[in-house]
Amino acid sequence: MTDKRFLHGQWSSRLAFILAASGSAIGLGNIWKFPYLVGENGGGAFVLVYLLCVIAIGIPIMMAETMLGRRGRQSPINTMASLAEEAGANPLWRYVGWLGVLAGFLILSYYSVIAGWSMAYIVKMAGGFMDRVSTTDTQQTFLDLKAASDIQLVWHTAFMGATLLIVSKGVSQGLERVTRIMMPGLLVMLLVLDVYAAGTEGFGQGMAFLFKPDFGKLTGESVLIAMGQAFFSLGLGMGSIMVYGSYLPDHVSISRSTAFVAAADTLVALLAGIAIFPVVFSYQLAPGMGPGLIFETLPLAFGQMPAGSLVGSLFFILIFFAAITSSIALIEPAVAWLSENRGISRPKASLYAGSICWFLGIGTLLSFNAWSNTTWFGRNFFELVDFVTADILLPTGGILVAIFASWVVKTRDSERELELGPRYVWWQVLTRFVAPIAIAIVFSHAMGVL
Ligand code: TRP
Repeated sequence: MTDKRFLHGQWSSRLAFILAASGSAIGLGNIWKFPYLVGENGGGAFVLVYLLCVIAIGIPIMMAETMLGRRGRQSPINTMASLAEEAGANPLWRYVGWLGVLAGFLILSYYSVIAGWSMAYIVKMAGGFMDRVSTTDTQQTFLDLKAASDIQLVWHTAFMGATLLIVSKGVSQGLERVTRIMMPGLLVMLLVLDVYAAGTEGFGQGMAFLFKPDFGKLTGESVLIAMGQAFFSLGLGMGSIMVYGSYLPDHVSISRSTAFVAAADTLVALLAGIAIFPVVFSYQLAPGMGPGLIFETLPLAFGQMPAGSLVGSLFFILIFFAAITSSIALIEPAVAWLSENRGISRPKASLYAGSICWFLGIGTLLSFNAWSNTTWFGRNFFELVDFVTADILLPTGGILVAIFASWVVKTRDSERELELGPRYVWWQVLTRFVAPIAIAIVFSHAMGVL
């Protein structure tokens, strides 16, 4: 054992890992992104493809990535390097770790801007002026926020600052405590919204939109987006879960913990969809309106409820916490590497990494106003960063992780780590063949999209 491995911290328990991993998985991806992607991509068929991707590709890769982390017990870059060395494989494998750091930077840069929107909405809700609002009010409020690059910059900076404050302290008790309260709170809040949605006139239509597949609406591109969303929402393909796996004690079952996290993540996304689409149809809004979807619809629901501004501000506070536990995971691989390899202290490492993300985020922020018409390959800055990360880098990272864990790591080792018993064969077939081939097919069908 090297010193680096010896010094590496560990979670206090299985619960601590589950909390951290679900904190990473459950975030804006579930509540903000999933609904608007479903809306843009035609509903039920997209949801079905998404669920298939979670089960056949996401969960096996999640196990693979966690296992690699635990075997390596270092930052993803060093883990990949030392596991490749241990297996006598090509040292180029360590670039999988680098790919992840790059993807994490890019994702966090826009994640922080959107999380900033939800912070702005905490204040708007608490101010109470969303009570009894109309659709034109919510649309105007969102348009105003999009146009105000200065206000977005303030919130983007505040969110990034909060992330760095937590990350600089290390993966610790603080994070555990936040997640332990936040997660049940978010679940309760979503259930409240679901109950409200069930009483609206658009409920039937909303549920049909979400769960009745119309395969005519499915294109090669939307299948790619569904797969990318599975990676994004589970937090796979860039080292987040690998770095969390590296803090996982040996006796904890990887398969059971990851299955639990994936189930919780999927449940939260579906509950968010059930809360939102009935409202969309009740008010005759457009399901495909894009990234503003939750900001333009949910305030309408809060406006109708008793104590709406309280419920509304609480809801956006919970989104903020969900976002921050994910943003920590996005930046942790870079910070872990900087402090491990460069001997930079955690606070400094967080500051360096965070500054890069903050700076890149300005591009996203401007893409909603000044740069909205500046496009590359038909996409503005935000859309391009999102597409390159979720739909290219994450699935590519996923293929590589799957191949490395199932072909390069010795069967004897992965069998022992995963403790799947007779079901091990399933994992092996899924990671060796199904996931890489499926990702490759989806990629090739979507070719020409860029
Ligand atoms: N899964 C988070 C969300 O849904 C975001 C996230 C955390 C993530 N870690 C990640 C996305 C790693 C991609 C890769 O909001």
